[in-house]
Amino acid sequence: MALLEGKVAIVTGAGRGIGREEALLMARHGAKVVVNDLGGHFDGTGQSRSPAEEVVKEIRSAGGEAVANFESVTDFKAAKRIFECAIDNFGKLNILVNNAGILRDRMIFNMSEEDWDAVIAVHLKGSFNLSRHACAYWREQHKLGNLLNGRIIMTSSDSGLLGNAGQSNYGAAKAALAAMAIIIDREMARYGVTANAIAPVARTRMTVEGVPSSMFSGTEGKGFDPYSPANVAPVVAWLASDDAKDVHGEVFRSGLGGVWVLKGWSTVAMVAQKAVWDPVELGKRLKEELTRGITQKETLGGVIKSVLS
Ligand SMILES: NC(=O)c1ccc[n+]([C@@H]2O[C@H](COP(=O)([O-])OP(=O)(O)OC[C@H]3O[C@@H](n4cnc5c(N)ncnc54)[C@H](O)[C@@H]3O)[C@@H](O)[C@H]2O)c1
Repeated sequence: MALLEGKVAIVTGAGRGIGREEALLMARHGAKVVVNDLGGHFDGTGQSRSPAEEVVKEIRSAGGEAVANFESVTDFKAAKRIFECAIDNFGKLNILVNNAGILRDRMIFNMSEEDWDAVIAVHLKGSFNLSRHACAYWREQHKLGNLLNGRIIMTSSDSGLLGNAGQSNYGAAKAALAAMAIIIDREMARYGVTANAIAPVARTRMTVEGVPSSMFSGTEGKGFDPYSPANVAPVVAWLASDDAKDVHGEVFRSGLGGVWVLKGWSTVAMVAQKAVWDPVELGKRLKEELTRGITQKETLGGVIKSVLS
């Protein structure tokens, strides 16, 4: 039996890039897929039906089942219609991949309120909108004795997990999505639902816009393309499956042929005493702790180098 036989999935932003590969792979493994995509530019302006339609065509011509949806994830009511698209066309929902995304990079001192709001609306509110509708449905179905093994996969980013200058809006949303996966998982585990997150690394139009082009070059004509977004999708297909039922609130970096298991904030040093600290003494002690080498930072460039060199 195929990994996702009998499953119904929604992938948001599935008309291009990583979402497209996730939709194609899950369909290849037997899932019926709602291919949602507004079809806008990388900065969230404009819209077009053709990216989602083309992915649906591709899935159907390979013998799979898919339906296109062109609603924006940013609108709570529209998100309900994306959810209902799965129910109306395929009778249920098992898998939600919150993948839609845009970029509006600016240093904090130049960022407009609109650039902040637009990015938060797609990544953070959009992921909330879909998750809210899906979780209410899964809880209700669970109460009726219908075990759907719900799955949420959030799309985080190294920009939020490690920090990337020029992306305070995007990185804040992406860090929040990793946190949301952990929190939703804690709330929904009792209903047979898991929530996890991925931090992709791939060459898409978003990275062409957002990172130095040198970071994703140098593989032309060499067979395996480490930067292909197809390398991100397998961990998502697996997390969506029944086989991953015990994987709860984890964050995986995915791409380049690698999958990293990431762990978030954890204590690496501590100072304590049984008295209120004097700030001067406290500063001295904290500086000692901070110079022990515990602040060594992982960077995206370093991550890519570690896999490909
Ligand atoms: N490419 C990378 O290396 C990388 C790294 C970290 C995180 N990500 C994340 O992966 C996800 C996919 O990005 P990508 O690189 O494939 O970019 P992409 O621009 O190729 O794809 C994003 C898709 O989302 C769609 N979209 C945007 N706003 C939408 C909305 N309001 N409603 C519905 N659809 C909408 C776009 O039309 C587009 O097709 C994003 O969340 C992105 O932040 C990508």
